[in-house]
Amino acid sequence: MIIGSNILFFENLPSTNTRTAYLLKKNNLPEGTVVYTNYQSEGRGYSGNKWESEDGKNLLISIVLFPSFINPSDQFLISMAISLGICDFLSRFIPDFSIKWPNDIYVNNDKIAGILIESSVIDKKIEFTIAGIGLNINQEKFISTAPNPVSLFLLTGISYDLTVCLNQLGTDLDKRYKQLIAGYSGLIKKEYVSKLYHLDEWREFRDIKGGFTGRILTVGDYGLIKIEKEGGEISEYAFKEIEFIL
Ligand code: BTN
Repeated sequence: MIIGSNILFFENLPSTNTRTAYLLKKNNLPEGTVVYTNYQSEGRGYSGNKWESEDGKNLLISIVLFPSFINPSDQFLISMAISLGICDFLSRFIPDFSIKWPNDIYVNNDKIAGILIESSVIDKKIEFTIAGIGLNINQEKFISTAPNPVSLFLLTGISYDLTVCLNQLGTDLDKRYKQLIAGYSGLIKKEYVSKLYHLDEWREFRDIKGGFTGRILTVGDYGLIKIEKEGGEISEYAFKEIEFIL
C-alpha cells in the first residue's frame, strides 16, 4: 500500500494542502502520507475559492505523492487517477456520478467532491504533488454561496463512519495510483473520459467569444478539453477558458 501507509491526523487546520506543503519542507514524509483533519478554517478551492465543510462531517485530506515517473507535461494524469479513485469510492454507495472537467465530482447536477492538486516541478521533473480532496459525506446543510453542493448523506439518508470511509477511499486511490505507476495511463485516460459530465451531449458553453452550442469530444494532451462546436469547428480549452452553462 502506498496511499494511506502513513496517516497524520489533526483535529483542525487552516488547510490540509497548506499544512502538507509545510510538513514536506521540514520533514521527509513517505510517499502516500495522508494528512487528515476534521475542520479547515481556510480550506482552499481552485481560483481562490473557499472550501466549505462543517466540523467533523466530511473527508478533508491531502496526499503526498512523488510521481517523478510522470513527465510534467502529462501531470493531468494525476488528476485523472485521483478523480477515478473518488469515483470508485462513490460506486460503493451510489450508482451514478460523473467527473465535471477538470476534476469536480458530480452526482447528477450537484458537486460532491473537489480536488486541488498542487505540484512542485524542478529541473523538468515533478518533485512532489499534494493531492487535496474534499469529499462531502455526512453534511446535511451547506451555507456558503457554492451553487450546488451535495453529500452522501443527502443522497442516501445514511450517516457514514468517517474512519471507515477514509480507509475505503485510501484503498481506492491507492489502486488507481498503482495503475499509473504500472504504466496503465491509457486505461486511466479512457476511463476518465468515459465518465465525463455531459460527454458527447450537445450543451451550452461560453468561451471568450460568447455562448455557443457544443459537445465534449475528449480530453487531450495537457488535460485540455476538446469541444466540437455546431458547424464542426473543434477547439481545445484550458481551465477557465471555457464555462459550462448549467
Ligand atoms: C475545488 O473544487 O475548488 C477544490 C476543492 C478542494 C478542497 C480540498 S479539502 C482538503 C484540501 N485542503 C484544502 O485546502 N483544499 C483541499
